[in-house]
Amino acid sequence: MKIIRSRIAGVGAYLPERILTNDDLAKIVDTTDAWIVERSGIRRRHIAAEGELTSDLATAAARQAMEAAGVTADEIDLIILGTTTPDDTFPASAAKVQANLGVPGGFAFDVQAVCSGFLYALSTADKFIRAGEVKTALVIGAETFSRILDWNDRETCVLFGDGAGAVVLRAAEGEGTIADTGILSTHLHSDGRFRDLLYVTGGPSRSPSVGVVRMEGKEVFRHAVAKLAAAVDEALSANGITADDLDWVVPHQANRRILASTAKKAGLREDRIVVTLDMHANTSAASIPLALDAAVKDGRIRPGHLILIEAMGGGFTWGSALIRM
Ligand code: UT7
Repeated sequence: MKIIRSRIAGVGAYLPERILTNDDLAKIVDTTDAWIVERSGIRRRHIAAEGELTSDLATAAARQAMEAAGVTADEIDLIILGTTTPDDTFPASAAKVQANLGVPGGFAFDVQAVCSGFLYALSTADKFIRAGEVKTALVIGAETFSRILDWNDRETCVLFGDGAGAVVLRAAEGEGTIADTGILSTHLHSDGRFRDLLYVTGGPSRSPSVGVVRMEGKEVFRHAVAKLAAAVDEALSANGITADDLDWVVPHQANRRILASTAKKAGLREDRIVVTLDMHANTSAASIPLALDAAVKDGRIRPGHLILIEAMGGGFTWGSALIRM
């Protein structure tokens, strides 16, 4: 039976110029390069320049993805931007990206699912494409997370960074089997009862400031491993496959030890996991498309490969997706 699939036609990424190393951070808070590397695997992060906005990062990544896909602005029907750090309370930063790119039509909106933002955006765009309402969609994850960090809190400020990644999705015909190219399934979850373990202290309805990140790191770690392993199992069993069938896993890049523990619990091969967090830390919604872009550009991920993406973040939100490139 012929069905519509959303195919990844191009990927792109952008990291701000300024790099902040662990040693640089040790001059700001009581920490060391050794502690950060041992506990998280992170070595450096990129920080947006003054006046450089989330929409700027998103636009740069989107331009690359459009070029890789050979798609022009007038072909884009939909833009979804996963972000926790929009330029303004409103309008949506996705609409700003639409204007920056000169996209003359269609519609654009932001999705707020923190570190799962790209996964949520991808799943949403896939639904529009599969419903036949959209032919070409731009899905972006972009963050200026440095703007909501408490630079006196060593338990959080060492873990995050700024960046953006994007994919172009195009409608294509499939047979409805796992051999199809494109998004094969997506699996989204949230549980608002865990709000207090990872949240921001302000926001438009609560206070006059945007607030700063607060996190119970140990608890978040424990939930992340359990929920990510379950999300991996869910994607595998929904498609009748095992971990051995996967060519690559492209996870949300939060902590090297979370990736290792999740791999162990879900039976994933560690040498099949794309890890880029050492280079850019946790960039929230941007981290999966940044890792995907790196692995596509260096030739690890190739056409035909079966890849699994998974993410977990504030909310809590979490989930997975299975994609054939
Ligand atoms: O995308 C989802 C978002 N978040 C995450 O995925 C983060 C999840 N959590 C984590 O990654 C880890 O829990 C952390 C990396 C945040 C912390 O690692 P941990 O192994 O759980 O360390 P801990 O919180 O148990 O802290 C151990 C020690 C503490 O000192 P005491 O109480 O043992 O004396 C902390 O005060 O390390 C201390 N510590 C630090 N030391 C140096 C905490 N942060 C730092 C730091 N530098 N930056």
